[in-house]
Amino acid sequence: MTHKTTRISGYKQILVNPKFRCLIPDYSIKLQNFASEIAHSITQKQKHIHPKFLYNDRGSKLFEKICELPEYYLTRTEISILSRLTSELSKYLKEHYRLVEFGSGSSTKTRKILDILCQSQEEVEYFSIDISNIIKESSRSLLQQYDNLYITGIIDRYEKGLEFIQTFDEQKKLIIFLGSSFGNFDADSGRDFLEKIHSTMNDNDFFLIGLDLVKDKKILESAYDDSQHITADFNLNLLSRINEELGANFILQNFEHYAVFNEKKSRMEMYLRSKTEQKVHISDLDLSLDFKKGELIHTENSYKYSISQIEQLADEVGFKITKLWQDENHHFAVVLLSKAKLSQHI
Ligand code: AVJ
Repeated sequence: MTHKTTRISGYKQILVNPKFRCLIPDYSIKLQNFASEIAHSITQKQKHIHPKFLYNDRGSKLFEKICELPEYYLTRTEISILSRLTSELSKYLKEHYRLVEFGSGSSTKTRKILDILCQSQEEVEYFSIDISNIIKESSRSLLQQYDNLYITGIIDRYEKGLEFIQTFDEQKKLIIFLGSSFGNFDADSGRDFLEKIHSTMNDNDFFLIGLDLVKDKKILESAYDDSQHITADFNLNLLSRINEELGANFILQNFEHYAVFNEKKSRMEMYLRSKTEQKVHISDLDLSLDFKKGELIHTENSYKYSISQIEQLADEVGFKITKLWQDENHHFAVVLLSKAKLSQHI
């Protein structure tokens, strides 16, 4: 099996080698999208910046560091759950499955799944969808480890990845969405995303999702405000990015990282707070911004779920919970979903 090099509109398609092709959106389109989204979101009453913009090259590196922080229990906990569930999961994946991953990042956790698939199948097709260029690096390293693997990297937003899998043939698929990245969605857009995933699935397909659970406020807040200030740098990097790509003059020392757990909404909220009254100019957008002392730019929500919320959400969308795994502290859940009407698979 080698990849066919068909043209896909809106993308520059790079065939790195017969086992790895990469779809990269045109740079000028990407910059235009960034510019127009920022122009809109930074001029609202509540100034905000979408969290997907956190992942430029520097931001992706910082996120990798966050995943290894002692306070950031999410990655470590999820990996330990995945390590324990592999033999059980493999029972569901007896036939030939294609792997699709949203938010693959460095693909560290993906290895737990690839260990299963690459062992039981002659060839494994892996579609990796992530906004970050990190896909190129992580794919190279995966291909060194798994010699029956064929990767298509799609460096784009989830929405674009969804459009892509809608064009798939009938081959069975396992879709994975790990790391609690789903937690960035608000209720409505999250349900919408799940419905779209659901609509691309056939009866024997599976969807494996990792979700962070509600817990003590202190644990949550220190996970998002670590003592080494890596999360602060990660957040502030948004301003550097606007400076670099849109010609703005944000002075980073004049802003500070702020992370708080909103109990009512069951979500971590991340902001950049203006330390003084100040003016900022974004020259490429021809925009002048006024900040009051203490004014906040909202940069991320990370929802934290309860088991009953997960059950309800799955039910509303038409998913059946085939299996739900948690760590012993109930900090994190990994959930295997299938279409509700499916008769028992094993
Ligand atoms: C990648 C969205 C899952 O919300 O925990 C880490 C991003 N933000 N520290 C999360 C993040 C601050 C992360 N997700």
